[in-house]
Amino acid sequence: MNIILLGPPGAGKGTQARRLVEKRGMIQLSTGDMLREARTSGTEMGRRVAEVMDRGELVTDEIVIGLIEEKLTGERGGGFIFDGFPRTLGQADALTGLLNRMGQPLAAVIEMRVDDAALVARITGRYTCGNCGEVYHDVTRPTAKPGVCDVCGSQDLRRRADDNEESLRQRLMEYYKKTSPLVGYYHALGLLRPVDGLAEVDEVAAAIAAILDRPA
Ligand code: AP5
Ligand code: ZN
Repeated sequence: MNIILLGPPGAGKGTQARRLVEKRGMIQLSTGDMLREARTSGTEMGRRVAEVMDRGELVTDEIVIGLIEEKLTGERGGGFIFDGFPRTLGQADALTGLLNRMGQPLAAVIEMRVDDAALVARITGRYTCGNCGEVYHDVTRPTAKPGVCDVCGSQDLRRRADDNEESLRQRLMEYYKKTSPLVGYYHALGLLRPVDGLAEVDEVAAAIAAILDRPA
């Protein structure tokens, strides 16, 4: 079963995707994570990607579609979770084409609804384990022991370069201009399933599980 997690920066896409990987053996495809990996590659492309991301703008469709295409040829597991992809109508069309060719259509598009005030609080308090990828928050989900990841014990806890108010404003603008039209696109295809992203992490996970257990 293939699904998309659609929502603005800080909606909780990464948090929920990790749960689905753990509980259902699905494969998380996060274009944000792929691009953060590309930026550490030391190539000219990586340097350009880093600049665009830090400003909070979208990387070109050509680059992200290429990254996704590469990953879709590999292991399928319990299905793919597209996290942060597609983000433009061009990317959505490309994904539809790729999945049709594989004979593996989308089962649902989970729209995670969260208001802007909550997004600012979530993004400015977020930090992540550089070793295992676990996501934390200064207030709502701090590590049990300061500076040490609960899951793997690593002390490599990081904040993202684009998790500041200025970049976030730009990321939100990009979301409303270029990504929110996908809500109508997937609604028209009968695939859209909204969830209240403001609820507790466990409640959001339960709402998503209920959708996956009875897809359209
Ligand atoms: P990307 O990495 O995809 O970032 P994003 O969409 O901005 O989303 P985030 O990772 O910030 O948020 P999230 O929804 O995963 O929230 P999380 O679970 O971490 O993209 C980064 C950049 O890469 C883009 O700006 C762009 O430049 C580029 N890019 C990526 N994909 C692209 C594409 N397809 N096309 C073009 N460019 C692309 O949660 C956030 C915080 O909230 C955490 O601290 C968490 O603990 C907390 N939290 C989560 N859920 C809850 C809850 N229910 N209650 C309370 N707190 C919660
Ligand atoms: Zn860790």
